[in-house]
Amino acid sequence: MDTVAVIGAGQMGSGIAQTVAAHGMKVLLADIDLATAEKARGGIDKALGRLVGKGKLEIADAEATLARIEAVADYAPMEQADLIIEAATEKEAVKKAIFEKAGERLAADAIMASNTSSIPITRMANYAPDPARFIGLHFFNPVPVMQLIEVIPGLATNETVTERTCAFARALGKEVVLSQDEPGFVVNRILLPMINEAVFVLGQSTAGIADIDKGCRLGLNHPMGPLQLADFVGLDTCLDIIRVLHETTGDTKYRPAPLLVKYVEAGWLGRKTGRGFYDYSGEEPVPTR
Ligand code: CAA
Ligand code: NAD
Repeated sequence: MDTVAVIGAGQMGSGIAQTVAAHGMKVLLADIDLATAEKARGGIDKALGRLVGKGKLEIADAEATLARIEAVADYAPMEQADLIIEAATEKEAVKKAIFEKAGERLAADAIMASNTSSIPITRMANYAPDPARFIGLHFFNPVPVMQLIEVIPGLATNETVTERTCAFARALGKEVVLSQDEPGFVVNRILLPMINEAVFVLGQSTAGIADIDKGCRLGLNHPMGPLQLADFVGLDTCLDIIRVLHETTGDTKYRPAPLLVKYVEAGWLGRKTGRGFYDYSGEEPVPTR
């Protein structure tokens, strides 16, 4: 792949853009408007600067990586892309509109991929111009650090497209897990019930936030406790994923924890809004319960 377009420049789209550009490919980065895409490019500049500051990256490499990322105002330049990766908000209607609009610009042999955490790939393939060239490409957060990418072919995905997508993921230095198109794929099918259960445990006052997280950090050797991880992922995204699991399986074991719904309704979405289960306004995150 020479040129990759990324649509949705939030925490995942920014991480994907940074990683792809760091591996020598040109990136076209889009969001709802040019200013948002440019702001995200500024954020990537800062992330690269932190790596330079830690002595992990040469200044020249940081500059070259940033120079390969172009913020774009619309989808017209994406005609040059070999791969378009959608990484926008986890709402099917938002993604549908993107696939339909960006689909008008998809080059003849190019692949269209979604970084969705949970929405069925086979269903979303119908919104793209060619379901045979549509695939799930699920990165993990923070993208530059996490070693895994899940690749999820839909029912109609062409085998060559799956192979090309896996080769792209490996070219980023990542390991690949191939998943069938089942709700939550492999990792989120396991992770999200754990996060949701942690919110039930909090809601029942079995323990406070700090102890729930400490329990999983020290008792399970997880790098972050489930509530800290939920804040890191985004509580809106967590709720969207658990709702997809609930709706697509019809299994009540995936019903969202009422407290998770309340936090999202309050606009307490985690790190990205400065408050979730922790308050991020000070030097160190402070548990709120
Ligand atoms: N770009 C590049 N490097 C980064 C980075 C970024 N955006 N963010 C962190 N890093 C690097 C740091 O430079 C540091 O590198 P060194 O160890 O070589 O110095 C390393 O990552 C660790 O960072 P920190 O020292 O700042 O912090 P930490 O040790 O607390 O680790 C963490 C941070 C890697 C996020 C760790 O806490 C962790 O692994 N947490 C769990 C993350 C996780 O589970 N992610 C999956 C979420 S689920 C998902 O993604 C799927 C979904 O659909 C919801
Ligand atoms: P985010 O809230 O940080 O970013 C979403 C971005 O999408 C925002 O910048 C928003 O402006 C943009 N957007 C919304 N509507 C758009 C539109 N019509 N066109 C273009 N851009 C639009 O969310 P995120 O955490 O980056 O998640 C993005 C996707 O990645 C979701 O599908 C999510 O499920 C998935 N994902 C998230 C994580 C995670 O840990 N947060 C991990 C893997 C996958």
